[in-house]
Amino acid sequence: MKPEDKKLKIGVLGCGVISQAAHLEACTRANNVELHAICDVAHDLLESMSNKYSPKRTYDDYDAMLADPEVEAVIIGIADQFHVPMAKKAISAGKHVLVEKPLGVTIEECEELEQAVRRSNLVLQVGNMKRFDPGILYAQRFIQEEMGEMLALKAWYCDSIYRYEMTDNVMPVIVSSQHAKKPKGNPKLDRQRYYLMTHGSHLIDTAMFLGGEMMSVQAWHTHKFGAHNWLCTIEYASGVVGQLDLTVPVRMDWHEGFQVYGEHGSVIAKTYNPWLFKASDVEVFSSKDGLTRKPLGADAHFYKLQLEGFADTILHGAPMIGATVHDGVHNMRALVAIARSVETGGKIKLADVSGAV
Ligand SMILES: NC(=O)c1ccc[n+]([C@@H]2O[C@H](COP(=O)([O-])OP(=O)(O)OC[C@H]3O[C@@H](n4cnc5c(N)ncnc54)[C@H](O)[C@@H]3O)[C@@H](O)[C@H]2O)c1
Repeated sequence: MKPEDKKLKIGVLGCGVISQAAHLEACTRANNVELHAICDVAHDLLESMSNKYSPKRTYDDYDAMLADPEVEAVIIGIADQFHVPMAKKAISAGKHVLVEKPLGVTIEECEELEQAVRRSNLVLQVGNMKRFDPGILYAQRFIQEEMGEMLALKAWYCDSIYRYEMTDNVMPVIVSSQHAKKPKGNPKLDRQRYYLMTHGSHLIDTAMFLGGEMMSVQAWHTHKFGAHNWLCTIEYASGVVGQLDLTVPVRMDWHEGFQVYGEHGSVIAKTYNPWLFKASDVEVFSSKDGLTRKPLGADAHFYKLQLEGFADTILHGAPMIGATVHDGVHNMRALVAIARSVETGGKIKLADVSGAV
C-alpha cells in the first residue's frame, strides 16, 4: 500500500520475542507509522535491534521514552504481568497504546486500566491480531451484514506439537539476553494456567469478534500425556449457544477455525499457524444467491495490518477493528470464568467472576 504522508510515531517497549518476530518489522512495513523509538532494559538487545531497525531514539528507561514528546503511541510487547502497569503509565503520559494480549492478569487491574482509558481521549487496542486476518475479517463482516440471525457458533484453537519445528523455520532467529526483565518466578511453569491465558485469549477474542459478548460458560478440562484440553459451552449475550475447544498441544498439524450457522448462510473457516502469515481459508455460503464465496486475503501480515488499523483509528478516526480495552476486560472475565467452571464443575456467569485464572 502507498505510504501515507502523516505517520504515527511509535515507541516500542520490549525488544524480546514478540517484538523481534512481529512488531519491529510491522513498524517498518506499515504504511502509516514511523518507528521512532525502542526501549529495553537489556542493553545488548537494544543495541542489536537498533542496528537492525534504525529507530531515531533508543531508551533503556520506559519513563524516559514516555517523556519523549515525539512519541505519539507505544506498543507494549512485554510479559503479561507488566501490561497493565506499563499501559497505565502510557495513558498518564498521553500516549496511545497497542498492548499485547492478554490485556493483563487480573480482572480488577484490567478494569482500572479501562477506567483510565475512558477518562482519556486516547486509543488502547489489544494485540489480538487475528481480527486482522483477512479471512476472519471477511467472515465477521458477512455475519454482521448478510447472515441474519446466528443459530450457533463453534470455534477451536489447537496448537500443534510440531509448532516449534514449524515456526523455527519461518520466524527470524531470536536474539535473547540474560539482562531481560522477566516477571518474578516463572509464570510459564504452570502450564494449565499459562496455556489458558496465552492461547485461550486468542480463541476467546475470535469467538467474541464473531459472536459478541459472552454471558456464561461451562467448561471441562482434561490433562493427559502433557496435553491440555478445554471444552466449553458458551451462552452469548445474544442468546446464541456455542462451543469452544482449546487443545494444547495436539498430535497433528495446527488446527484452528470456526463454523457459524445463520439465518441466511453459514461460514466455515480454517486458520493457519500465525507465523505462516497466511489468511484463513474461509467459505461463506449465502442462501440469498445460493453461492459459496472464498476470499483470498492476499496480504495476511496480521501484525502489520493490526498496526495500520490502530494508526488509522488514531490519525483519521477510522472505526476500530481491533479489540478495545473493554473487549480486553471481557476476555479476562471469560478466561477466569473458564478456570472457575473447571474448578467448580458448574456454569459460571462472566459478571460474577473476580481475580485471576
Ligand atoms: N500476539 C501474538 O501472537 C503473541 C505471540 C507471542 C507472544 N505474545 C505476547 O507478547 C508478550 C511479550 O512476550 P515476549 O515473549 O516477547 O516477552 P520477552 O520476555 O521475550 O520480552 C520482553 C522484553 O521486554 C523488556 N522489558 C520488560 N519490561 C520492561 C521495562 N519496564 N522497561 C524496559 N524493558 C522492559 C525485557 O527486558 C524483554 O527484553 C506476552 O504478553 C505474550 O503473551 C503475543
